[in-house]
Amino acid sequence: MTNPRFTFGLWTVGNPGRDPFGEPTRAPVDPIDTIGRLGELGAWGISLHDDDLVPFASSVAERDRIVARAAQALRDAGMGVGMATTNLFTHPAFKDGAFTSNDRRVRRAAIGKAMAAIDLGAELDAENFIFWGGREGVEAAVAKDPRDALDRYREAIDVLADYSVGQGYRMRFAIEPKPNEPRGDLFLPTIGHALHFITTLARPELVGVNPEVAHETMAGLSFHHGVGQALWAGKLFHIDLNGQRIGRYDQDYRFGAEDLKEAFLLVRLLQRAGYDGPLHFDAHAYRNADAQDVWAFAAGCMSTYRTLAARAAEFDASDEVAAALEAASTPELALASIGSDDRPDDLKALVGELDGLARRGYANERLDQLLVDVLLAAR
Ligand code: GCO
Ligand code: MN
Ligand code: MN
Repeated sequence: MTNPRFTFGLWTVGNPGRDPFGEPTRAPVDPIDTIGRLGELGAWGISLHDDDLVPFASSVAERDRIVARAAQALRDAGMGVGMATTNLFTHPAFKDGAFTSNDRRVRRAAIGKAMAAIDLGAELDAENFIFWGGREGVEAAVAKDPRDALDRYREAIDVLADYSVGQGYRMRFAIEPKPNEPRGDLFLPTIGHALHFITTLARPELVGVNPEVAHETMAGLSFHHGVGQALWAGKLFHIDLNGQRIGRYDQDYRFGAEDLKEAFLLVRLLQRAGYDGPLHFDAHAYRNADAQDVWAFAAGCMSTYRTLAARAAEFDASDEVAAALEAASTPELALASIGSDDRPDDLKALVGELDGLARRGYANERLDQLLVDVLLAAR
């Protein structure tokens, strides 16, 4: 396994355990103090919202002092920044959306806030700049024509891409889809919606996706397939890893805390595809965790990824698995269906073979059980 580049958002290990029903259960932490601790645990880097590091409405001098301190802490720990982003969801002015607020003044201020966050990201040498549209959506669908909202969303990304390139910044952009929460419905709800949206941008080559386990899972979709399509499109720039059960609120559990089989398939896919971008844990410790348990949470995210990568390598090195994959005709799916000398009449004649072809089995029970056995270390 090449050394995975694990990152944690400052807001993840810094999560104080607040939820819609209750007050924080943990004391606030200095985000800069968490940098060294994450490095000791084996993380490659961090990620941040503008406001995680620099409290909203700080003076320029205060901002510069905090940013210099963070840059120094990163240098001391030998760590990088996988992504920076802008918080366009906490301020009450974003209650109707940021880039897609119906109020043009809010939209313009949101673009300005994102520009300042892009500057901050560049200063800390962030690899990616993420767009998660937490407030870009509706409760009352009648209030926004979705076509206008997508026009405004696109306009914002286009303006910001021009800004970033114009400033000479090297970071790439990635859009993070989510179906709902905190709005009733969000625009760009799935990986597929985001991938298409990117094709409509002025600088599509600059923009990829940042899929999150919890987000496709909340919608009942296969995250493994969504990530597969992002890889297939050459658009997996960044990934948010966590744990989530279908049909629940946005849980953000430790990576691997739920659905280990899906987690195994995901890690196997990332490893086989040679994904070398940041592996970002966008999760937080359970609300009943104390400060020490938060670090157990962080270590657990990384160790589960490593263990699953080792199990995936074991799975793929096994002769028994290779035979089972052969029995399932899995390698055959990589072969083109049609050859250059195939004539339409020959293909039409093949319809007569379907009754015979219906008799074969695909031995998927045996193959899938092998996966389960490897995952459980039962062989
Ligand atoms: C969520 C999102 C966020 C974003 C973050 C960075 O469900 O709240 O996953 O955590 O990832 O704002 O863009
Ligand atoms: Mn999320
Ligand atoms: Mn996320």
